[in-house]
Amino acid sequence: MSQPPHGDVASAPASSSPSGPSEASGDAAATARLLPGGPVAERILAEVAERVAALIRQGVTPALATVLVGDDDASAGYIRIKQRQAAELGFASPHAHLPADATQADLHAVIESFNADPAVHGLLVQYPVPAHLDYDRALMAVDPDKDVDGMHPLNMGRLALGLPGPLPCTPAGIEELLAHHGIPVSGREVVILGRGATLGRPLAILLGQKRPTANAAVTVVHTGVPDWPRYTRRADILVAAAGVPGIIRPEHVKPGAVVIGGGVRYAGRRLLPDVDESCARVAGAITPRVGGVGPTTVAMLFRNAVAAAERAAAAANGSGDRTVSG
Ligand SMILES: NC(=O)c1ccc[n+]([C@@H]2O[C@H](COP(=O)([O-])OP(=O)(O)OC[C@H]3O[C@@H](n4cnc5c(N)ncnc54)[C@H](OP(=O)(O)O)[C@@H]3O)[C@@H](O)[C@H]2O)c1
Repeated sequence: MSQPPHGDVASAPASSSPSGPSEASGDAAATARLLPGGPVAERILAEVAERVAALIRQGVTPALATVLVGDDDASAGYIRIKQRQAAELGFASPHAHLPADATQADLHAVIESFNADPAVHGLLVQYPVPAHLDYDRALMAVDPDKDVDGMHPLNMGRLALGLPGPLPCTPAGIEELLAHHGIPVSGREVVILGRGATLGRPLAILLGQKRPTANAAVTVVHTGVPDWPRYTRRADILVAAAGVPGIIRPEHVKPGAVVIGGGVRYAGRRLLPDVDESCARVAGAITPRVGGVGPTTVAMLFRNAVAAAERAAAAANGSGDRTVSG
């Protein structure tokens, strides 16, 4: 991950923003510099494409398999987007589509067949699955070395222990986003609103690790801390990870702070972010309403996938261990 090339955004006067007035809200008073995820994702995906090409030159076509259960339009759309992106990057993308009434055993049989297939390097079970199925049990059935989401319990354990392994995509993407935009993290106070397994909890572990792009003093607040604004108001970097639309308002933000909007809820196709757009008036830098954390999440998925293929290729050549922890 790259070193921060710029100065300290949170302590700089808002008027010194290199991006000028924010486009986040269309509010004339907004001054925060925008932190788009698109350029971060483009850089990561360009690196992934080079690594895929190198594998193909060695005779290995990286393959990212996807599993969809049921006929939810949004989920089918997400799978199509990932398959299109996979193809553009040079991945093969075998796909299994199970009917909405598939049993847990049916789902595990498909997962097992992808686990056992040496030509498949990464495996993604699209969330959510129909209500009668247990997604967490399915996730546990995925070979941890093919777990491109980085959410398998073994990989969460590796993260907690500081061992190498696929990283959870959204938290890892946020670390990349901060580094790319030159936001110093080391030694700063990061406050995360939300301790969920997808975002808040793994992000707290990641940003507290000893690494130049992390190394922060991290505080996590949640419903058990009713006076959580007392904490968010002192944050140099505030990450919203609650999934409660508009929960972060200007009065919760230290002037000049960096605000990262991770939590979102969907009302139909409409995206409702945790961070109220008026926060751009107070923040020094802020992710845009759309195109912030999302693109970096997808890019990290493909980075995990190409890394899995590289490990498998190295193990097949006898030049590496098949497991990430080896
Ligand atoms: N942008 C992306 O690409 C991306 C990717 C993944 C996830 N997300 C989003 O990230 C959010 C978090 O997901 P998750 O699975 O990690 O978490 P989660 O399981 O949905 O948990 C939400 C967390 O927020 C806290 N919270 C909720 N309402 C609160 C309130 N009123 N006051 C204080 N704390 C409150 C909860 O506290 P308690 O623990 O006390 O209940 C919990 O810790 C979701 O909105 C999800 O959609 C976005």
